[in-house]
Amino acid sequence: MLVFFLIHTNLKLNNKNICCLFISLLGPFTGLLIYDWSPLCFLSAQRGDWPMHKLECVAMCAYGENWCPSETVRLVARIIMKQRVTTDRTPSERLLLLKEFEAHLDKMDSEKEELNQADIAALHHFYSKHISDLPDDQALTELFAQVNCNGFTIEDEELSHLGSAVFPDVALMNHSCSPNVIVTYKGTVAEVRAVQEINPGEEIFDSYIDLLYPTEDRRERLLDSYFFMCQCTECTSRSKDKAKMEIRKLSSPPEPKEIQSMVHYAKNVIEEFRRAKHYKNPGELLEMCELSLEKMGAIFADTNVYMLHMMYQAMGVCLYMQDWDGAMSYGEKIVQPYSVHYPTYSLNVASMYLKLGRLYLGLEKKSQGVKALKKALAIMEVAHGKDHHYVAEVKREILDQK
Ligand SMILES: *[C@@H]1O[C@H](CO)[C@@H](O)[C@H](O)[C@H]1NC(C)=O
Ligand SMILES: [Zn+2]
Repeated sequence: MLVFFLIHTNLKLNNKNICCLFISLLGPFTGLLIYDWSPLCFLSAQRGDWPMHKLECVAMCAYGENWCPSETVRLVARIIMKQRVTTDRTPSERLLLLKEFEAHLDKMDSEKEELNQADIAALHHFYSKHISDLPDDQALTELFAQVNCNGFTIEDEELSHLGSAVFPDVALMNHSCSPNVIVTYKGTVAEVRAVQEINPGEEIFDSYIDLLYPTEDRRERLLDSYFFMCQCTECTSRSKDKAKMEIRKLSSPPEPKEIQSMVHYAKNVIEEFRRAKHYKNPGELLEMCELSLEKMGAIFADTNVYMLHMMYQAMGVCLYMQDWDGAMSYGEKIVQPYSVHYPTYSLNVASMYLKLGRLYLGLEKKSQGVKALKKALAIMEVAHGKDHHYVAEVKREILDQK
């Protein structure tokens, strides 16, 4: 049963005519598929798209090991090529054309402008021999800005990065920190499913960002990357902020000033770690996590999101080093608070149960493994849909234990 239908009308948004999505609910919330969108452009999988693959292949071979354009640059190269071969609307542009994407050029600061220029330079460097007559700088500036505001990153069921894509119609949806739909992917198709009761005429919202963090952090991120101040129900009520910033229970509670400076430290360490991933070895990275956890642990409770952030990073390093016991013990600390901080249906929570369940099974902890996989499954059946191959895979893993 298809629960939604889409009606679109023209309206002006930032002086651009775009179609607007209105949704109507035909039946009760069932968590069923609402709509499918094929991408205009999908990166990484070479599935059946020979002209695109050929473009990359030829350019790639010419550069050999010096081939290193960023994913955004590769995506933009593909978009330019695609727009040359098809002038018609693609299946993913039924409502919105890529050309009509928001670019927010007026809101770019000098740092963003520099990044934009670097992307353009890289596009010229890697593709000018292979794409004739690249658009001029002004057009490219706009295209890169559009892709940055409207692009999607594709991840697998454990949230490992798979690629980037643009789905113009899906990009129409506004953001909420308490989203009523989740976007998942089936090959190169984006699917949007309801994860909350949605009444007729209500707007559909997905989430553009990781929802773990407190309101201030989320708003900062949204303002920086998408140029708007979030006014969603969660940002207005801030109902989860207290738990997200939980302080350790001590006989003498810390001063507000101490807390503030620890939050400051946490944000710095998160940023420092992000950069360190590119040049430090796993041992050094794990040490960074442990040191910061020890320091933050003097003030923050184990359920505090900054603690969880570093535990998550530590778990990732352990998985990379195949230290399964280490990964498991971090996962065990993360998963409970995760299900409190994130919305009921969250891919972050599902993937954490999935990773943990698979770790348990690998370590011969059968009943714990099955239990964790079932938790993942309960979320994925709604978020990915019962017929998704990821769901089938998890079901098989559970059955294999019988
Ligand atoms: C997104 O929000 C804007 C501004 O509030 C609104 O005009 C637009 O209709 C919304 N888009 C959709 C698809 O609902
Ligand atoms: Zn919000």
